[in-house]
Amino acid sequence: MREALEILTLAPREWPALFRVPGLWRVEALFGAFYLLRLPSWDIWMQTRHLPRPKEDFRFGETPYSAGLEILKEARIGPRDVFYDLGAGKGKMTFLAALATGCRAVGMEMLASYTLIARRIVGALRLEGRAEFQHADFLKADLGEATVLYAAASSWSESTRELLLERIAGLTPGTRWISVGWECRHPALELLSARRLLFSWGRDNAWFYRVRKSEGTHPTVAEHMEDPPSPQDGGSDQG
Ligand SMILES: C[S@@+](CC[C@H](N)C(=O)[O-])C[C@H]1O[C@@H](n2cnc3c(N)ncnc32)[C@H](O)[C@@H]1O
Repeated sequence: MREALEILTLAPREWPALFRVPGLWRVEALFGAFYLLRLPSWDIWMQTRHLPRPKEDFRFGETPYSAGLEILKEARIGPRDVFYDLGAGKGKMTFLAALATGCRAVGMEMLASYTLIARRIVGALRLEGRAEFQHADFLKADLGEATVLYAAASSWSESTRELLLERIAGLTPGTRWISVGWECRHPALELLSARRLLFSWGRDNAWFYRVRKSEGTHPTVAEHMEDPPSPQDGGSDQG
């Protein structure tokens, strides 16, 4: 009940970010204009019906600006970073990263309509070189340039998560890895911290990792969190 009320009050929670981050309100205004007459569920169904991927990978969900700012701060993202949003959706988190931190932000998305509209917004706001959108499958795309990878993975299928985890072995040591709704267990990932934040699908955990220099054991969450989420909080709530 409390969580439902929190989700209902998400819009006003976005206002501080819209005032604080230069140019963000323009992005939001263009989202409003481009998506005014589009139905997300119809859009997603049309574009995924022939895709050879599990349907749950393509559920609609967004990182609100309020949670996004917390994530960018916790991961200490700055102008020298290259931020990759794996499965960028409409591109909200990609635009936020570019505008709030000055990093170069790349949104990778398999649904073409999201990418096309995000590119139009990049052009309209002259954000070329700061925000970029690739119509690509993150399981196959080149991730080597990224210094930070962000995966809002709450709804993704187990098979997609497993295939994505296989890509960690190919990342440069020191690369940061942020996952939402998915505690990643991989010997090359060192858990740095975790936060419980409000997303468009409810409260969920964001996990912050770094790719190790050499392989080691995976620490438990309790060892790293002052206030680990209780079992009744659940993991991912998206659906
Ligand atoms: C929950 S949304 C997250 C949107 C965005 N990252 C955010 O936090 O606001 C997950 C997105 O991942 C995309 N996706 C799923 N599998 C993908 C893949 N293999 N390659 C690229 N995008 C994918 C879906 O289409 C969906 O838009």
